[in-house]
Amino acid sequence: MKNNGKFEIVGGNKLYGEIINQTSKNATLPIMSASLLACDIVKIIDYPNISDVHNMAKILKCLNVNMTFEDKVMVLNTKNAIYNDINCDLMKTMRSSIFLLGAMLARFKHATMSLPGGCDIGARPIDIHIDAFKKLGVKVKENNGLIDFDAKVSRAKKIKLRLPSVGATENIIQFACLLKGKTTIINAAKEPEIVDLCNFLSLIGAKIFGAGTDKITIYGVDRLHGGIYRPSGDRIVAGTIMGAVAVAGGDVTIRNAVPYQNLNFIKKLTLMGCQIDYKNDIIHISRENPLTSIKEISTGYYPDFPTDLQSIMLAVSCYASSDTQIVENVFERRFLTVKELIKMGAKIDCISDKEIVVKPSKLRGNKVKALDLRGGAGLVVAGLGAKGKTIVNNARFVDRGYDHLEEMLSNLGANIKRT
Ligand code: UD1
Repeated sequence: MKNNGKFEIVGGNKLYGEIINQTSKNATLPIMSASLLACDIVKIIDYPNISDVHNMAKILKCLNVNMTFEDKVMVLNTKNAIYNDINCDLMKTMRSSIFLLGAMLARFKHATMSLPGGCDIGARPIDIHIDAFKKLGVKVKENNGLIDFDAKVSRAKKIKLRLPSVGATENIIQFACLLKGKTTIINAAKEPEIVDLCNFLSLIGAKIFGAGTDKITIYGVDRLHGGIYRPSGDRIVAGTIMGAVAVAGGDVTIRNAVPYQNLNFIKKLTLMGCQIDYKNDIIHISRENPLTSIKEISTGYYPDFPTDLQSIMLAVSCYASSDTQIVENVFERRFLTVKELIKMGAKIDCISDKEIVVKPSKLRGNKVKALDLRGGAGLVVAGLGAKGKTIVNNARFVDRGYDHLEEMLSNLGANIKRT
């Protein structure tokens, strides 16, 4: 993976101005894979220019998908796609490679994959994906770290997921679109990115009902066609910018901000003393007075507090006037950033693997490193309020999901650059 340098931030500048939020990484990636189902031309408008998207493009190119990126439009021509084993190194670069499985099985009827990679924020098993495919008749064999999937004799069915896994829900939806009959997913994930994927699939001819609820029904069709789609704004990037304003102070308008997908986060920041208004796709946030504490946050499945914004809230909580208890319920290792924040003077008690208490702290700049995508963004946010210079190494983790975070923040007045 390319190094991509580090971020240097000198804390203390307030943020002012307006920003147009990027489109959603977690919506764009499964939409790219779902374009395989189309056997046609798909255009994704305003795609986020991030390394996960470019890595997914590399994987799709291995399958002979013709891809171009022009003027904010990604064009995927999947007419001549052919099966190929995906290079293990590419698979390991990101978790989302697993989303290809449903589309590959639908299109090619078989696939061999290694276990997917992604941020090291927990065990991240794929048992829910595998169980669901097996219930739909897919034969699964493990072989020296590689898994063979054979979908020649598969059938639509009602399946219940052990947990509402986002990736497993997306995989099964993609597979079921071309599967004869009615597939019902019980305990499906309700995240907005599922709705985006289903909106795209419906646009290209799929028959899907219930996206955004815990019961999704898919009626298989014979074929899908091409289309043009613009993914929603990225709710996690919008949350990161809000977190940055909470720490630095100032007054910022965020367009394409999907406020209705972030109500939980907006409520917490409001309780901490930020002024936030939202309407349609615009969020306006300002923060003048010192931050108070929200006492407690606890992550969960949508619409509960998103685990991806936990790292951002962790950084913000360091600046609150009293203790904040943070409980992480979705991933096992999502407090990687704590030890880096402690290097900056954060006072954090680790109660258990899933619970910490953040105490009011006076942060000062130091050399720290991003250890995962959202944790890295959290360190940048922390640096905006710290005294002196913070250097966040491993910018490449942040580049997986943020389309030049340093440019977004410096356009708002932050003293930040990439070196
Ligand atoms: C997606 C998002 C990620 C977000 C997460 C939860 C993408 C590209 N990534 O990840 O940003 O943090 O949803 O909102 O969209 N699990 C199992 N077995 C499985 C699958 C999951 O035990 O087969 C567990 C995971 O280890 C985790 C929990 O279920 O503890 C949720 O995972 P899941 O919803 O699948 O997350 P991802 O799809 O990987």
